[in-house]
Amino acid sequence: MSSDLFSADLPSDEDWVKRVVALRQKLRELSLAYYVLDKPMVSDAEYDSLYKQLELLEEKYPDLIPVDSPTQRVGGAPAEQFQQVRHVIPMLSLNNGFKDEDIIAFDKRVKDGLSSLTEIAYATELKFDGLAISLRYEDGVLVGAATRGDGTTGENVTANIRTVRAIPLRLHGDNPPQVLEVRGEVLMYKNDFAKLNQRQRDAGLKEFANPRNAAAGSLRQLDSKITAQRTLRFFAYGIGVLEGMDMPASHSALLDWYSSLGLPVCKERAVVHGAEGLLKFYNGIGAKRGELPYEIDGVVYKVDRLDQQQQLGFVSRAPRFALAHKFPAQEALTVVQGIEVQVGRTGAITPVARLVPVFVGGVTVTNATLHNEDEVRRKDIQIGDTVIVRRAGDVIPEVVAYVPESRPADAKPFEMPKECPVCGSPIVRLEEEAIARCSGGWVKCSAQRKGGLQHFVSRRAMDVDGLGDQLIDQLVDKNVITTAADLYRLGLTSLAELDRMAEKSAQNVIDALEKSKSTTLARFIYSLGIRHVGEATAKELARHFGNMDAVLAATEEQLLEVADIGPVVARSIISFFEDSLNVELVNQLRAAGIHWTEGAGVEIQAKTLAGKIFVLTGTLPTMSRDDAAQMIEAAGGKVSGSVSKKTSYVVAGAEAGSKLAKAEELGIAILDEDALVALVQSGPQDAADVAATE
Ligand code: IVH
Repeated sequence: MSSDLFSADLPSDEDWVKRVVALRQKLRELSLAYYVLDKPMVSDAEYDSLYKQLELLEEKYPDLIPVDSPTQRVGGAPAEQFQQVRHVIPMLSLNNGFKDEDIIAFDKRVKDGLSSLTEIAYATELKFDGLAISLRYEDGVLVGAATRGDGTTGENVTANIRTVRAIPLRLHGDNPPQVLEVRGEVLMYKNDFAKLNQRQRDAGLKEFANPRNAAAGSLRQLDSKITAQRTLRFFAYGIGVLEGMDMPASHSALLDWYSSLGLPVCKERAVVHGAEGLLKFYNGIGAKRGELPYEIDGVVYKVDRLDQQQQLGFVSRAPRFALAHKFPAQEALTVVQGIEVQVGRTGAITPVARLVPVFVGGVTVTNATLHNEDEVRRKDIQIGDTVIVRRAGDVIPEVVAYVPESRPADAKPFEMPKECPVCGSPIVRLEEEAIARCSGGWVKCSAQRKGGLQHFVSRRAMDVDGLGDQLIDQLVDKNVITTAADLYRLGLTSLAELDRMAEKSAQNVIDALEKSKSTTLARFIYSLGIRHVGEATAKELARHFGNMDAVLAATEEQLLEVADIGPVVARSIISFFEDSLNVELVNQLRAAGIHWTEGAGVEIQAKTLAGKIFVLTGTLPTMSRDDAAQMIEAAGGKVSGSVSKKTSYVVAGAEAGSKLAKAEELGIAILDEDALVALVQSGPQDAADVAATE
């Protein structure tokens, strides 16, 4: 881009024309790259700066601004209402299929209808979850846009559609048809939807239930300035009126042509043959559905050849040549029968909606989380409401929104109980927190005990195989165990006596518990379930302090020195260990035989120190000398008591004496504790560097 495009002084008329034309062209190319090719060429800021330049230049001759200039997307006063538009060719809908048999039957109908002996070629694409739109281009310029409406008459949303940057105001190429009616779907990407809802929240406005509602709401704004603030997208998938040229021979050729005109066409499309090809496409898209940046509710199959499409024709309001193969719905409507609260392992109280059972996302859902009290208020969900329930992938089902029109007169708002439904302790909510908690702690509250134990045995914590939630419930309810330490005292008979436990599975649990005793310090810390201490923080603690006693003794200041630990986490760790019961638990667990072999809790991947001889001297800042020695040996090194020419490294702490002097004399590399840890973790090359810089 030549720099004179940015120059602020007013150009001569000739220059002016050159510059506005070049800028318009550049901005169109950038939009195409961003919205159609999915390959952004510049940052948003650069785009904005070029856009401002053009606006500035165009001010000189406002009458000469063409309607398809990139600056002409928003304009005019808000409309009073949308005008009706009659579709010359009706906008039809698709028949749906759900099961494999439906698809096989569809393929057979098509084959029979065409009396074809060979497999049919189908164009396959996505079924976008947005809203259908018709765009009218005359001589390559966008002149009108209408919603589908009832299929015969829609609404004129031209002003709003012009703000959608994904839709070209002018088609590419020198030979546009006289009239082209492009049909396709307007939708909102998931990330743009999330951003929009965040903005709505910040402004105290109502959130949208899903991207489709957000797209529809944005398109049906009477003020196109509002639409312009929402990022809408578009994918072309069909054609209406075409004048001044011949139809392409196939649907796939139509989409390729669209693409060459600068219209966005989804790249998840293919041409396949026969029912087998259709099902393969369906399964392939199903597997990557979650990774797509937008929502789809299925795939669409269309007989590829247009002459064959014509031959097949339509039944009532849907084509015989096409079928939507739908995924199991991820959203469904049902009624909230009640709102109960669940108590988590940290005492967190989660309101849960009890629902009239509904089939959604491939399973029957009877409960859905409402997250927390504020969320219930914000979404204004009441008992008796009809709600949209959503279950996407393996995510916990959640209540998205209620349907205002269906609220019964006797709907009851949720009230946070004053007392824990499990142990009766007061429920408290600190001012700065979003979460209300049961104040009973695990000593009083069996729900917290259960949650804590479930966490303790979970795969990423102590990894005790075969100790499921139901078993833990029984053990706690029958008062067989109270703490994690009790798990290691379980006998075969007490386990085998439980419901649905045979001696064999009881023995498996005992074996798994035994096996879990050999662990890492990081896992052990994580398994304690200290609030705010997730896996990453547990690893950092283990690395920094090296042993459990140092963690127990750590002051707030020392904790704050650990990477990633801030005041909230530090406070949480301190208050956890201020409770003598927690310290006792740690000690009981260690006494039960839980140990970590990899010296001081540093994760050792390989025998990085094989063949190296170490001498330890002085007091290290956090590790005991035993811990350090253990760590070196775990990494394959040897520890010797005296310095000689054979010594590879001397690890020196505070008040190191004659051994340090001797090492200096012999020119042996000297390490401090941090350098030792680095050496253990990454091997001698790095450590030589560390030592050299000391
Ligand atoms: S073709 C005559 N293709 O589904 C066929 N529709 O039930 C007309 N839709 O209103 C539609 N993705 O909003 C077609 N790839 C796709 C589609 C698609 C989504 C929607 C569209 C239409 C509805 C038909």
